[in-house]
Amino acid sequence: MITDMYQHLKDKIGHIMPAPEIRIQAEIAEEVMRLKKERNAVILGHNYMDAALFNSVPDFVGDSLELSRKAAETDADVIVFCGVKFMAETAKILSPEKTVLIPTPKGGCSLAEGITAEDVRALKKRFPGVPVVTYINTYADIKAEVDICCTSGNAKAVIESLGAEKVIFLPDQYLASNVAKETGKRIIFPKDFPKLDSGEITEDDYDMIGWNSSCEVHELFQVSDIERVRKQFPDVAVLAHPECPTEICDASDFTGSTSAMVTWVKNSDAKRFLLMTECAMGDNIAAQVKDQGKEILRLCSQRCPHMAEVTLADTRDALLNMQTEVTVPEEIRVKALKSVQRMLEIGPSGSFTNSFKS
Ligand code: 13P
Ligand code: SF4
Repeated sequence: MITDMYQHLKDKIGHIMPAPEIRIQAEIAEEVMRLKKERNAVILGHNYMDAALFNSVPDFVGDSLELSRKAAETDADVIVFCGVKFMAETAKILSPEKTVLIPTPKGGCSLAEGITAEDVRALKKRFPGVPVVTYINTYADIKAEVDICCTSGNAKAVIESLGAEKVIFLPDQYLASNVAKETGKRIIFPKDFPKLDSGEITEDDYDMIGWNSSCEVHELFQVSDIERVRKQFPDVAVLAHPECPTEICDASDFTGSTSAMVTWVKNSDAKRFLLMTECAMGDNIAAQVKDQGKEILRLCSQRCPHMAEVTLADTRDALLNMQTEVTVPEEIRVKALKSVQRMLEIGPSGSFTNSFKS
């Protein structure tokens, strides 16, 4: 029998998934829809979810900033966060009365795991009075230690909102370098601290202090990847996520958050695109722009192992068994809420960059 869900998925992702597989995924998606209603749940899906999930059950899809906003607004009893743990924690920080579930027991992230609350306390001691910004890709205990959060969609706006001479920006070294470049700030990292101690670098030589974590997916891209594709497809437009090293962003036509990429591709006159970000994004954008005759080159080989843990079947099991529940100790939640709320107050207009270069 051809169900509405089957037909919907066939229309969206029939170009990348064979019909028998779509049939199986559609049946699971229908179960998810039934359970979602029974549990009065809302499903949030990050742009990196696989195509079958992304195009079927989420009530809202988007980047970290958009999903944080949705998590704050919903009146459902249960939030199922199809993403990684730090995202689900942010939802719990904003909606403590709701049950927040993540469809995988792990949902890690190399950025979130690259810094501890003790590291943040040590930085605050070393640079007293300097405001601390953390990328949202951190756990709640880090958010509890800082002044304000940011996402890749509003990092520049958040830094500018502080109006401070110096800023500590954690934990992603590449996002920090890219934002420093964007805002005209000079940045130092922990590797430079010995020079600070010896007097080789002084107070007057830097405006930003970064950390040394990185995204295990975005750090792998090479400028030669872009050069090779440009040679083969001279008309290609290249988009990079700001978690990529600065040389990758410099070699691209646009740098922005995952949702900013979607908007850019939709509005661009180009017909062919290469995305320097997590692979699932390519399929998800392709489904949205194929009617415009636009092609996303499927040359990506960097899948986030943590995002890839979340499937439609896991989402069904999460609702069926009400697991894995994400909790945040109240004392940490209350402190973390301040830095998340402060970010949300900056307003939706904030964006990392709209540096349209072509
Ligand atoms: P955004 O969707 O906010 O751009 O984040 C990308 C990412 O890596 C999330 O883990
Ligand atoms: Fe973390 Fe990178 Fe995966 Fe995003 S893509 S969840 S930043 S490891």
